[in-house]
Amino acid sequence: MVAYPADNSTRGMSRAPAASGRGRGARGLIDHDIVRQVVAQTDMLAVVGEVVDIKKKGTSYAGLCPFHAEKTPSFHVNTALHVYHCKGCGAGGDVIRFVRETRGLGFVDAVQWLADRAGIEVQHQDLSPTERAQWEDERSQRARMLQLSQLVQQFFRARFSAPQGKLAADYATQRGLGQAIAVRYGLGAATAGWSDLADHLKRLNCSEADMLDLGLVAPRASGGVYDRFRNRLMYPIFTSQGDLVAFGGRDVSGDPQAAKYLNSPEVIVGDQDQTSKFRHFYKKGDNVFGLYQAREAVRRSGKVILTEGNLDVLTLVQAGFENAVCAMGTALTEVQARELRRFTDSVVVLYDGDKAGRAAAQKAVPLLLASGCNGVLVALPDGEDPDSFVRQRGAAALQALIDSAPPMLNAHLDTLVGQWDGSLQGKSQILQAAGPLLALIGQHDAMARNMAYDFLLSRLDPDQPLAENRAAQGRYLPRPTAVLRVAAVNSLNEPAVNEPSSAERELLLALVWYPAELGQPALVDAVDYIEHPGIRLAVRDLLATQRSRGLDLAGVAQWAIEWSDQTVRNWVLEWLAEANPVAAGRAAAQVAQLVDRIVSGRELDSQMRAIAGKLATADPEQQRLLAARLFELRKIKGRRGR
Ligand code: UTP
Ligand code: MN
Repeated sequence: MVAYPADNSTRGMSRAPAASGRGRGARGLIDHDIVRQVVAQTDMLAVVGEVVDIKKKGTSYAGLCPFHAEKTPSFHVNTALHVYHCKGCGAGGDVIRFVRETRGLGFVDAVQWLADRAGIEVQHQDLSPTERAQWEDERSQRARMLQLSQLVQQFFRARFSAPQGKLAADYATQRGLGQAIAVRYGLGAATAGWSDLADHLKRLNCSEADMLDLGLVAPRASGGVYDRFRNRLMYPIFTSQGDLVAFGGRDVSGDPQAAKYLNSPEVIVGDQDQTSKFRHFYKKGDNVFGLYQAREAVRRSGKVILTEGNLDVLTLVQAGFENAVCAMGTALTEVQARELRRFTDSVVVLYDGDKAGRAAAQKAVPLLLASGCNGVLVALPDGEDPDSFVRQRGAAALQALIDSAPPMLNAHLDTLVGQWDGSLQGKSQILQAAGPLLALIGQHDAMARNMAYDFLLSRLDPDQPLAENRAAQGRYLPRPTAVLRVAAVNSLNEPAVNEPSSAERELLLALVWYPAELGQPALVDAVDYIEHPGIRLAVRDLLATQRSRGLDLAGVAQWAIEWSDQTVRNWVLEWLAEANPVAAGRAAAQVAQLVDRIVSGRELDSQMRAIAGKLATADPEQQRLLAARLFELRKIKGRRGR
């Protein structure tokens, strides 16, 4: 722990007090017009292009989807309308959504991110003048810290390939880390001297005050500063958005006095004032090491591998597990679990195969489940960590271990059961221990909770029939609320969502591309004939919107982005992201025709229902006639594309 000089707080930059800070994203609203302006002035192609390799394809752009694994491009961008959509996985939205999902940002932060790129000043509406001043202050301090971090990183990187950094570079080699991984993770060297870094930064005119703020140097009793990181293999620590906010270093001297790992201290920007809304610059418990580098692989594979150690991450990535991260050597925190959840809901927990590792995994699982994640818990052999396992047995062996790993919830409950001494009292203790976890699962999914409960009971007494067991033990557990039970039952009984007829789909498609056709009078009456509830609602809303404020193509795109029915939103975004299949000259006739098909189709339906109603009571001869008529109507209906 480093003591800061006494004057430090007067400059408003300080170490994080233990329980301060509201964390990220607690910032104000942004005016809707500004949001629109930011979107309009954003080069969507450039923003998407940073993540996806996109190529022009007809009137839109296409590339491999960043949200799921695929070999042929089904991810489309329409730059004129500022929307993207993937046919393969259904991901879609505007550029703000894209930034949110690919960079793990909240709405306000995503807009801010885009605004910074576009050079637009964003006013946060609900900030008081004091808060606004704090916010400005935080931003400028933050910018300074980021700049300084960059200079530090350049220095460590340069030393890594210089003679002074040989110890660290050799250590990396000895741990089996190659050049590619060194570059990708920005490995560097802190050298042996007591002020190599400080001297270098002074030559670049950095102030000692700033250096102290970043926490990489410490004050000398005699005045001046000295380097905290010496003889270490250094790795930069990024936020999941790629801001370089801290450093970690592994000892390479072998000196038993030296801590094996050393990390930057926690740093907040802005006032130390506890009421400050603003965020940490670096907070260990908020950071997931390697997530920035892993995010592409995480999105593509749909999974993240969570380890305990920084070296584990590097070794795993080098072995081809590019989606590996670690929780900065601390017990996983809620914030970290949520950070992971921003990128995936499937976590492979791969902790060390020792007592500490297993205990840490047992603690991590409930946190992951609480954040809405799921996944598997891998048990490494005794004494192995991911790094040693992969290096000794290879990637295929690790993959096999992951593939055969049990779901984390089962594994977690099994571990609990493993603690059962066989007594009745012990049983109730275990059920009680599991209670909060089960209640928590119930908040997301009542069925899953019930299944977990059954699973636990079956393990606790394999000889007793389940029902009896449950009756006997149920009172030890919080039961799912009535509402959750009803929800679970409803979800079972709910009929499959109706597919719309082709006519209904085509109508919506034509209206989306040609919103002027919303003015056709026949449409107003036809709306009620649309059977598919999603399309009916959407067309009705489009009609109302068109009437109240007029709709052009861009308006439709905006409408789609904000439309709450996900199914319809996906269709519309998909259509808009691709080429328009309806020729402009044919739009009016097409809409009229489709309206006609829908209305007459509905009439066919009522005729058919009437016939079906008579069938049961008709005499055999009548029955034969009615059935033939029904058959005929069905054929007509089929031809009309119902
Ligand atoms: P480990 O002791 O398991 O280290 O700590 P490791 O990753 O296996 O490293 P090697 O293989 O011995 O070199 C796991 C993590 O805990 C944090 C680090 O982030 C480390 O990667 N840690 C460990 C510290 O922060 N300080 C320490 O002194 C030790
Ligand atoms: Mn380890």
